[in-house]
Amino acid sequence: MNRTDPVGPKASSPPGPASSLPASCYVSTEMFAAELRHIHLRHWFFVGREEEFPAQGDYRAIETVGGPAIVLRDLSGTLRGFANVCRHRGGLLLEGSGNSQVITCPYHAWSYRLDGSLRGAPWMEQLDDAARARLGLAPIRLESWAGFVFMTFDANAPSLRLHLGDLPELFASHRLDQMVCTFRTSFHAGCNWKLILENAMETYHTGWVHAATVGAQSSVSLDTRGAWQAIQVLSETSIAVLGDAPPPLPPIEGLTKAARQGTYFTCIHPTTQFAVAQDCLWWLAVRPLAADRSVLELGGCFPRSTVALPDFPRHAEAYYDRWRRVAIEDLQILERQQRALGSVLHQPGPLSWRDDQVHLFGQWVLRQIPPDQRKMV
Ligand code: FES
Ligand SMILES: [Fe+2]
Repeated sequence: MNRTDPVGPKASSPPGPASSLPASCYVSTEMFAAELRHIHLRHWFFVGREEEFPAQGDYRAIETVGGPAIVLRDLSGTLRGFANVCRHRGGLLLEGSGNSQVITCPYHAWSYRLDGSLRGAPWMEQLDDAARARLGLAPIRLESWAGFVFMTFDANAPSLRLHLGDLPELFASHRLDQMVCTFRTSFHAGCNWKLILENAMETYHTGWVHAATVGAQSSVSLDTRGAWQAIQVLSETSIAVLGDAPPPLPPIEGLTKAARQGTYFTCIHPTTQFAVAQDCLWWLAVRPLAADRSVLELGGCFPRSTVALPDFPRHAEAYYDRWRRVAIEDLQILERQQRALGSVLHQPGPLSWRDDQVHLFGQWVLRQIPPDQRKMV
């Protein structure tokens, strides 16, 4: 359900210091539009791993909150981002992924080089060189850290490295730059994007929602610097596989004592989670579509040395199975929550100390929205 009006007189006052956000934050199309403008088009979002584009001309068409986009590796070996839209009459240029040295629009065959410049435009003799130079693909800012590729639509956003603050320090011993993406899938989620991130940052729910899989967990919150937050679920063996048997794939060599003690769950504002275990990393990348609809992209990486092991594909299945099953359990409870948040009678509820990261995340979201537009909340 989409509700465009403020919920009622009580909901127009700001939430207390330890309350859930008002329902309007999750169901209002006005709030979603404000988030799009002030959050999603202004911050970094995760799109994939560098090694997914090994060769010049490798590309992938992706959907983003700012519309269709292309990630590709150009002739100089640089990864670049462009709007996936033709400069003639807006045709969609690429679909899926592949390798191509030229991007040709399937509508009237305008073509573009891998640096985005216009290469050819049939029956457009009136265009002089200066006009042609202005008709390259619209670039989208793209930066990487440790092989993780992010994009932003804001040319003035602080660098990705600044956004990540001290995250690279926490994960230095995991040597994430040595990882290889081996798994990807995605789910349609009938819920607000924030519900997925909130859920991903607390273990309060795990004993009930994941009774059949990971079971009850407990976590500690970490202090962070930068646009991210983190918890660690304490367990001396990786929790990236189910069951009591030892994980079938080896731990990363050289982990710090703290890193050996558990799995870190992060929220890189606004829509990315890296879950960093002793033997692998998996991610949730949430793509907001509407107030009550999102896409959840799920992916996973292992160290290059682990991927080279002879039995890797067979053992990795146990990890993929866990990631899929737990994600489905979470999405089922979140879609129920989204339906309930449509109630005109719902008021913000008190949060537990086990919801501390939910509170932090909600406060970050609200801070991004200019005060005059928070009235809708
Ligand atoms: S819309 Fe692409 S060539 Fe016409
Ligand atoms: Fe969960």
